[in-house]
Amino acid sequence: MTKSATVLAGLIGVLAIAAGFAPARAAPAEENYRLYCVQCHGTLGNGEGINQTSGGLAVSPRNHANAKQMSELSDDHLRQAITGGGDAVDSSELMPAWGKTLTAEEIDELVLYLRELCRCEASRQ
Ligand code: HEC
Repeated sequence: MTKSATVLAGLIGVLAIAAGFAPARAAPAEENYRLYCVQCHGTLGNGEGINQTSGGLAVSPRNHANAKQMSELSDDHLRQAITGGGDAVDSSELMPAWGKTLTAEEIDELVLYLRELCRCEASRQ
C-alpha cells in the first residue's frame, strides 16, 4: 500500500468510528410538535387542528395553551400520555401513543415545550 493510500484508509476508519459514536440528534420539540401534534392540537396548540375543525374527532384534543387546564396535569402525566397515548392515562384513545416514534428524551423535551405553550407549571406533581 502506498503512503497516501494508508493515510486515506486511516482517515476513512476514523470517520467511520466518529459516525458510529455520534449520538443521534433529538429533533427540537417545536419541530416534533409541528410534525406530529398540530394536525389535532393545532398550530397554536389550542386544540383546534384540522382533524378537530373538520369534525374528524369525537373527543376534543387537549388545549395545550390553556394554563388552567394544563396546570392540573403533572409533568409525569403529560409524559405518560405522550408515550402511551390516551389509553395509558384513562383518556381518549384518539390521542395516539408516541413511545415507539419518539425517544424518551424527545418526549421529555415535548413536555417542556407544552409548558411553554401553556405558560404554566404543574400545580401538583
Ligand atoms: C390524531 C389526533 C391527535 C394527535 C396527532 C395528537 N393528539 Fe394529543 N390528544 C388528542 C385527543 C383527542 C386528546 C384528548 C384526550 C381526552 O381528553 O380524553 C389528546 C390529549 C393530549 C394530552 C392530554 C392527555 C390528558 O390526559 O389529558 C396531551 C399531553 C397530548 N395530547 C399531547 C400530544 C402530543 C405531544 C402530540 C404529538 C406528539 C399529540 N398529542 C398528538 C389527539 C391527538
